[in-house]
Amino acid sequence: MLNAALSQLLQPIFRTFDTILLILALLINLPIILFTLIRNPKLPSNFLLLFNTLQPLPLGSKIFTYLISLVAPYSGSLNATCLTLTSKSCTVECKETSYLKNPFNSMHACALTNLCELVTGLAMLSYFQSHPKRVRGIVTRISTTYKKKARGKITAYSMLWEEVEEDCVRVAKAVLKDEIGEVVAEGEIEWNIKVEERGGKKKN
Ligand SMILES: *[C@@H]1O[C@H](CO)[C@@H](O)[C@H](O)[C@H]1NC(C)=O
Repeated sequence: MLNAALSQLLQPIFRTFDTILLILALLINLPIILFTLIRNPKLPSNFLLLFNTLQPLPLGSKIFTYLISLVAPYSGSLNATCLTLTSKSCTVECKETSYLKNPFNSMHACALTNLCELVTGLAMLSYFQSHPKRVRGIVTRISTTYKKKARGKITAYSMLWEEVEEDCVRVAKAVLKDEIGEVVAEGEIEWNIKVEERGGKKKN
């Protein structure tokens, strides 16, 4: 309790420090970001390209975390760091903080579900954006199984296995592990996916 009260009081200080780091990150990396943007104007709308551009830069992951919170403020509340992103997979890391806790001194069930949705969502969207066709999708069902109390640093991983060729329903899976590598939760996120030819009409 004391711990939670203290960290809630200190929250604004953490946030201010975070914002200062973010502004610093944007300032140092501005030339490279602008240069990449001129060479590839698709940069702002392509997660994979954004990730690959930002990841090697100093404090680049802070900028990516910030972009997540701009695009999806609710997911952004996790303050998760994206560690890897490919056109089919994603790993994000999230630290247990006082505002993500339940009254039982571990991470709240909904925060874990939120994390499952974030990691599968990033993998899914980067898959859609790399697809030769125009692919869109929406989440239609989420189910999370909790295996163990989630404490400390939680790493979430998602990998998509099947190619999408036409309209379909797909279940993306996420696995959440703690620092000793034990599974704390598993998520299944169902997506309703629509495929259209690029620039053309919807495929029958
Ligand atoms: C967000 O996460 C980063 C990296 O784990 C951490 O340094 C920062 O303090 C966190 N911000 C808040 C507001 O908790």
